[in-house]
Amino acid sequence: MKELVVMPTIYKYLSSKDFAKDFKLGKDDLVIVSEKTYKQYFEHLNLECNVIYKRQYGSGEPSDDMVEAIYKDIKNDFNRVVAIGGGGVLDIAKLLALKDVTPVTDLFDGKIKVKKEKNLILVPTTCGTGSEVTNISILALKDRGTKKGLASDEMFADSAVLIPELLNDLPFNVFATSSIDALIHAVESNLSPKSSFTTKLFGYKAIEIILEGYKKITAEGIEARIPLLEDFLIASTYAGIAFGNAGCAAVHALSYPLGATYHVPHGESNYLMFTEVMKNYMEIRADGEIAVLNRFIADILNCEIVYVYEELEKLLNNIIPKKKLREYGMTETKIMEFTESVLANQGRLLANNYVELDKNRIYKIYRELY
Ligand SMILES: [Fe+2]
Repeated sequence: MKELVVMPTIYKYLSSKDFAKDFKLGKDDLVIVSEKTYKQYFEHLNLECNVIYKRQYGSGEPSDDMVEAIYKDIKNDFNRVVAIGGGGVLDIAKLLALKDVTPVTDLFDGKIKVKKEKNLILVPTTCGTGSEVTNISILALKDRGTKKGLASDEMFADSAVLIPELLNDLPFNVFATSSIDALIHAVESNLSPKSSFTTKLFGYKAIEIILEGYKKITAEGIEARIPLLEDFLIASTYAGIAFGNAGCAAVHALSYPLGATYHVPHGESNYLMFTEVMKNYMEIRADGEIAVLNRFIADILNCEIVYVYEELEKLLNNIIPKKKLREYGMTETKIMEFTESVLANQGRLLANNYVELDKNRIYKIYRELY
C-alpha cells in the first residue's frame, strides 16, 4: 500500500517579484492568471510572457468548453505553463500542459491518453483547493450537468509555489469558501480507506490550523484573518497533500451536482453537505478513525464529543451561514436526479467513503438538507 507520494517541489516566496526572478519568467512561458492579479503583482516587472486572462473565457468555475476555447487560442510556442490563481485556473493549466487536450470530454472519458508535454508551475491565490500539489483536474462537463475529476500522475506540477502576499486581497467570502474546502479535504482524506499514517499527519495539522484560525476570526472579526493568511495557505497545501494521496469522498461527490447546476461555489456546496454526511457515517459506524477525528476536533473546540458537529457547525456558520438546498433554487425532483447523478458519475470519490453510502442513504442526505 502506498504511504505517500510527494511530487512537486514546493517553493515559498515573500513576494511575486522574487518568484518571477528566481523562475526567470519570460517569453517561453504561457501564464494563465486573473487580470487583476497580473496587473497588481506582475505587470510592472515587464515580463515577456504570453499572458492569458481566464475571465475572457467566462466567469465562475472551469468547464470543458472554457478549456476548449483557451486551447484554440494559444499558440504552441511555450515550454512552461504557469498558472497563478484559484483552483479553477490551476486545474485548467494542468490540462494545457498535456500533449493532447481536445475534445476535453474524450480526455475525461479516457479516450485520449493523458501525456504531459510542458513544464508546469502552479501558484495558488486562494487557500483552498490544494490543486498545486495534486494530480487532479476538475471541470464542469456542461452537457452532463455535473463536475468530473480527471486524475493522472502526468498532471502533477513540477513546481508548486506559495506566495502569501497574493492572498492579501482575497475577499472574505472567497477566503471562507476556499478554506472550508481545505478543511473538508483534510477531514475526508483522514477518513478515507486510502489514508496512511503520513497522510493523516498532514490532514490533522491542516484541520488544527484552519479551526484555530476560525476561532480567532470568530472572536476578533474578519480582519483577524489577514495575519493568518500564510498559515491558511500552508494548511491548504497540507490538506492537498493529504487528499492528493488519500482522496476525497462523499462530501465532494454530493456537492458536485449542486455546484454544477446552481453555480454554488465549491467550498460552499461542500459545506452544505459536510456535517450531514458525517452524521450519516456515524449512524452506520461511529468507531474507528471517525472517533479519533471527533475527539481531535472536540479538543480544538473545547467541547464534549457528543456535541462536536453541533459546535463545529456553530463555528463554521460564523464563516459561511448554512442555507437549505431549496434556497439555491433546488427543486424536490432534483433530490432523486442528484442521487442518481452521484451514483453514475462520482464512483472515484464514493470509493473513498468512510463507510458505504447506498442510494437510499444519499437520497436521505439530500432530503434532510433540502
Ligand atoms: Fe474540494
